[in-house]
Order: sequence, then C-alpha cells, then structure tokens
Amino acid sequence: MNNNPSHIAIIMDGNGRWAQTQGKNRTFGHEKGSEVVRAITTYCAKNPEIQRLTLYAFSTENWKRPKIEVEFLMKLLQKYLTQELPTYLEGNIRFQPIGDLSSFSTSLQKTIIQLKEQTAHCTGLIQSLALNYGGRDEIIRAASALQAAQTPISLDLISQTLDCATDVDLLIRTGGDHRLSNFMLWQSAYAELFFTDTLWPEFTTDELEKIIHKFKKVERRFGGLN
Ligand code: FPP
Repeated sequence: MNNNPSHIAIIMDGNGRWAQTQGKNRTFGHEKGSEVVRAITTYCAKNPEIQRLTLYAFSTENWKRPKIEVEFLMKLLQKYLTQELPTYLEGNIRFQPIGDLSSFSTSLQKTIIQLKEQTAHCTGLIQSLALNYGGRDEIIRAASALQAAQTPISLDLISQTLDCATDVDLLIRTGGDHRLSNFMLWQSAYAELFFTDTLWPEFTTDELEKIIHKFKKVERRFGGLN
C-alpha cells in the first residue's frame, strides 16, 4: 500500500487564540500565521510526492468579522502576495487562487492575478490560497455556469467547472475543532481527515511530516473492498 498525499488541503485555524496566549491582539496571530504559510508551502514544494497544497486563507463567511480584522487580513494578503514572489519562483511554485475574487478591492485583485501570472510557468507544487472561498459558493457558481451553458451534467464536468478540479487526499485542520467549515466540500469526498489541537501559528513541518506518515499507513478503499 503506497498512499501519496498528492493533494493536501489545510484549514488554518487558531491564529486568534494563539495571539491571546501571547497577550497580543488577534492580528498578531494572523501575522505569525502568514509565516507558517511560507514555511509549510516551502516544505511541500521540496517534497515531490506533494503536487498540490490548498490553504483556507479567507472564507466567504470571514467578512462577518470585525471590520478592523477584515481590513488587517486584506492588507496582510496584499503584503504577502507581493513580498513572497521570490519564495514562489525559487521553489518553482505555481500560485493558483481559488474562490470568488470579485469581492476584493481592485488593487488586491490585481495583486492576486499578477502573482498567478508571474508564477504560471512554474512546474513544481501548485499552491492554492482559498480567498473569499466557500465550498457551497463554489458549487453554486459551477452549477450556474453549467446551467447557462445548458450542458448535460456529469461528475467530471462538475469537477472541471469548480475552482479546483483535483480531489483532496489529505485534509488537515489545526486549532482543535472537528469540522469542515465549508472547505473543499466536493473535493474532500474521499479525503482522509486529520485534526490537531496545535494552533496554526505553532504548526510545524515536523508535525506535517508526522501526519503524512500516518496518512501513508491508512488503507483507502474509496467505497470498494481491498
Ligand atoms: C483562522 O484563525 C484563520 C483565518 C481566518 C485566516 C487564515 C489566515 C492566515 C493563516 C494568515 C494570513 C494568510 C496569508 C496567506 C497571508 P482564527 O482567527 O479563526 O483563530 P481562532 O479560531 O483562534 O479565533
């Protein structure tokens, strides 16, 4: 049995609680969280077994947070996507955002598209940040596109019309909660789910390695028999 964690998806939870443990406000946790995004992405880019890494960075529901936190997250994203270009290029990492980008400011949309174009030639890891992403919203947008095209529905067609056509092999959630929170609902149909109490700012490549090790021992049957 040789399972490859070809597509890893992560719900990065716990930034706010971690900041609280440091006696700081929530934004400090997001800032540290963005450093962990870099470390985990770089690790995955060096592991040829991993082809895709999808990270839940901002959900369709996150707009409900206080304005000041939403604004901070927007600025942090803008900074990250601008400053990290060398990380993407040196790691041969292709950036492919998922989600409905139309709600972001014109300037943030520009930055997102720019990084996508600047890394389009990269042939290694595909890193997706889920931005204004919700699994239900993704399915609704795909269903509307198919309805408009009046095409007969099939499993493959739905997959290809979604923001991400690739099934998730390993889905990890940090921060202690055991739920999907509207993340990769279609793509996670047969994903192996791993939950850890570690808060995202404290998540390390060592812990990821241990989870991958456990994942490899799981017998995946996809509804069949072995
Ligand atoms: C959950 O922590 C995390 C988020 C809502 C967003 C994830 C954002 C980052 C990891 C940082 C920014 C990312 C990039 C790529 C720049 P929470 O605030 O819900 O934590 P809590 O459950 O402890 O309150």
